[in-house]
Amino acid sequence: MYVALAEGVFLYDAKANNLNPVIAKDLRSATGSQGFVASAPLNLVYVADLSRVSRASGEDKILYTAADVGFIAENVYLYCASQGLAVVVRGSIDRASLTEAFKLRPEQKVILAQTVGYGK
Ligand SMILES: Cc1cc2nc3c(=O)[nH]c(=O)nc-3n(C[C@H](O)[C@H](O)[C@H](O)COP(=O)(O)O)c2cc1C
Repeated sequence: MYVALAEGVFLYDAKANNLNPVIAKDLRSATGSQGFVASAPLNLVYVADLSRVSRASGEDKILYTAADVGFIAENVYLYCASQGLAVVVRGSIDRASLTEAFKLRPEQKVILAQTVGYGK
C-alpha cells in the first residue's frame, strides 16, 4: 500500500506498522483523474507485486491480489465510517503515468486507489 500525502509518497510496512518514505514530492494528483484527488489529505494506492505471488497462474495472480485489495479497502471504509471521514475507492487512474511517477517495477500493478478526506 502506497500512501500519497502532501509531504510525499510512503510505502506502508504492515509488519512494522511503519510508513517508509519513497518519494519526497507531493504526487497526490498523479493518483487519479478526478479533481478532488490532488487536494484530499490522503490517497492510498493499492499495488500488487505479482513477483511475490508464487502459487498462481498469471490471471489468478491478478484475481487474488485484486480480492485482497477489496478486503483492505473495505477495512479502510469501516474505519473511516467509524471516524466520520469521507472516503471513496477509485478505479479511474492513469495507471501508466502513476507507474512512472511512483517509479514502480513492471511486475508491480496498480489495482485501485482510495481517497480519504473530510466531508463537506
Ligand atoms: C472497483 C470500484 C472502482 C470505482 N472507481 C471509482 C472512481 O474511479 N471514481 C469514483 O468517483 N467512484 C468510483 N467508484 C465508486 C465509489 O467507490 C463509490 O462506490 C460511489 O462513489 C458511491 O459512493 P456514495 O454512495 O458515497 O455516493 C468505484 C467503485 C468500485 C467498487
